[in-house]
Amino acid sequence: MRQAGRYLPEYRELRRKHSLLELCHKPDLAAQVTLQPVERLRVDAAILFADILLPFEPLGLGLTFAAVEGPQITRPIREAAQVLDLPPVDPATDLGYVLEAVRLVVRALPAHVPLIGFAGAPFTLASYAIEGGGTRDFMLTKRFMYAEPRAWHELMRRLAELVGNYLAAQARAGARALQLFDSWVGCLSPADYATYVFPHSQRALQLAAAAGVPVIHFGTGTATFLEDFARAGGDVIGVDWRIPLDVAWERLGADSKRAIQGNLDPVALLAPRPELERRVRDILARAAGRPGHIFNLGHGVLPETPVDAVQAVVDWVHGG
Ligand code: CP3
Repeated sequence: MRQAGRYLPEYRELRRKHSLLELCHKPDLAAQVTLQPVERLRVDAAILFADILLPFEPLGLGLTFAAVEGPQITRPIREAAQVLDLPPVDPATDLGYVLEAVRLVVRALPAHVPLIGFAGAPFTLASYAIEGGGTRDFMLTKRFMYAEPRAWHELMRRLAELVGNYLAAQARAGARALQLFDSWVGCLSPADYATYVFPHSQRALQLAAAAGVPVIHFGTGTATFLEDFARAGGDVIGVDWRIPLDVAWERLGADSKRAIQGNLDPVALLAPRPELERRVRDILARAAGRPGHIFNLGHGVLPETPVDAVQAVVDWVHGG
């Protein structure tokens, strides 16, 4: 994730001329940014350039990106009644520009490089919709969840349908794998995950799986409820660095058909080169050549990351 983005000079060059939303809205620009890391780094897959929050535009929540604060939602959900007023969203038309970018990328990519499409998971989207932006404590989200459980479940049901259908539409447009990002789900207790999130992630993942391509279920901070997180679905489970890769894999079931994705700490890319190499080789040793490991960062690339550190990791993973 975030292969493109601010650590790449060619991305920053384009960003000088266009806002983030403009890059997302214009399929030819989104396609161009998607291809940048593939061309430069020779990674094995491309991840679509888009953002998990784009569905907030057709939902009428209002979306802007501020330079320092990140995403800002101008009409956040604060009252139960707002949930029932959310308009239906049809990904094929309301997010048609994303599907067009998928088609352009697929046409431009070499046949051996698959495109990964993605969407935000219901919980992570709900947290942005309610908080109105990033948060440290998820106070408004949890308060809404505890105080208005019916409205909470209705919101999650709607988001699950939306993102499940949106993911399936990306597969039909040519994406060869799909990733559901539950970036902030680790703020929950295992019991709250089971009660307030699990059935909705499961529904979104079911709808995505029906498209017939592999689905990656990504979360961070999921170590305390990893079994439940995996039970919600996904052919591949994405884990972060807070749990050793082999321990996570063991917990998914040693002989399960489940693949695993992870799990380098993005900050390790800022470490001295020998320390970075040691950490990359440790992850590879924990995967121990078993089939079904996708090497990835545990979370997104930081803007301060030196490009040659990313390149070194790609080369080590490729056997260098
Ligand atoms: O790797 C790629 O090129 C794929 C593109 C991609 C973006 N957002 C573009 C983007 C992907 C996969 C995402 C997913 C996304 N967006 C997630 C889930 C993955 C994760 O990192 O947890 C989340 C939570 C978001 C919401 C979001 N968008 C945030 C929190 C921010 C601000 C980030 C920050 O560090 O300030 C964004 C902005 C954003 N989306 C950027 C990019 C390249 C950087 C902003 C810019 O270029 O101005």
